Amino acid sequence: MKLSTILSNDLAIDLGTAYTLVYVKNRDIVLNEPSVVALRKRTQEILAFGNEAKEMVGRTPGEIITVRPLKDGVIADFDLAEQMIRYFIKKSAPSLLPRPRVAICIPSGITEVEKRAVRDAAEHAGAKEVYLILEPMAAAIGLGLPIDQPVGSMVINIGGGTTEIAVISMYGIVNAKSIRIGGDEMNEAIIQYFKKEFNLLIGENTAELLKCEYGSTAPVVARGETTVKGRDLIEGIPKNVTITAVQVQEALSETVNTIVEAVKQCLEATPPELSADILDRGILMSGGVSLLRGLDIRLRQETNLPVIVAEEPKLAVVRGTGMVLENLNIYRKILTHIKHY
Ligand SMILES: Nc1ncnc2c1ncn2[C@@H]1O[C@H](COP(=O)(O)OP(=O)(O)OP(=O)(O)O)[C@@H](O)[C@H]1O
Ligand SMILES: [Mg+2]
Repeated sequence: MKLSTILSNDLAIDLGTAYTLVYVKNRDIVLNEPSVVALRKRTQEILAFGNEAKEMVGRTPGEIITVRPLKDGVIADFDLAEQMIRYFIKKSAPSLLPRPRVAICIPSGITEVEKRAVRDAAEHAGAKEVYLILEPMAAAIGLGLPIDQPVGSMVINIGGGTTEIAVISMYGIVNAKSIRIGGDEMNEAIIQYFKKEFNLLIGENTAELLKCEYGSTAPVVARGETTVKGRDLIEGIPKNVTITAVQVQEALSETVNTIVEAVKQCLEATPPELSADILDRGILMSGGVSLLRGLDIRLRQETNLPVIVAEEPKLAVVRGTGMVLENLNIYRKILTHIKHY
């Protein structure tokens, strides 16, 4: 092995709204942590990143806050995003010399300004060079779809902040739909449901846990119930409420409907030859929300197409981004560029 290969610490980063994953070239995925920062409100002093910060969500005294620097797939707080990326890079590639080249993925519905923010944040955080890749393209590569062939491949990647639906053929996105709806909206819908039905305020982490453990969508028949702790909005005191899986399904239904509609719209806009390919080959799903019980069956029913959830759906994007980094000579043509004015 060449010395430059051993010394190289080039990185592929899936900078997600909910989770950030880092892959180190010639190695493996070395980091997978929530995209959360905890800081002291008055001084802006940072107290924790990632796993440690997520544990604090909703449990901090008044002067400490937890912030998620990304919202709907894009950077919402530039300074915190930069510091978080810097921390994750340092944790993943402890040897700082040479400075890493970084491949990083972005939602396909992103604006030029939002793109630039991602590149600048990664550069400020220590990257020598930054390569931008569209998230559905990264997912397709990570899932091993034949994106180099004149065959239509369809992916649906549903993350915390965005749902990306794309038809890919010959290294290009033929047709894509990106909506800023995903797992975060589902958590929010559960929080709203508790307010409306039980006058109970619950935390974000509790809502997410409920979604992952009891969440589902029709046609799956929801079963079971659980007790949830929160704060009574009228009396202001802690209270227990029992919620059934049927109710969780009801809370999630609107978000699920929005996702289903977006998939249908993308299919309607797909050229017929590629539609025929998709009918043969099916649709592959990735991203954390693809694990929602019944979502694949629901999409199968609504589209009459085979829908398959990827193995390890949460790792597809970072794997694909890593493959681009490992084979830049082949994949250079799919990199996204920033327009100069
Ligand atoms: N079993 C499950 N059922 C439903 N939702 C789940 C499950 N497991 C994880 N999720 C949700 O998946 C989301 C995270 O997915 P992922 O890591 O793909 O998002 P991300 O890449 O950070 O976000 P984005 O790509 O939108 O920027 C979270 O909202 C999480 O609650
Ligand atoms: Mg993602």
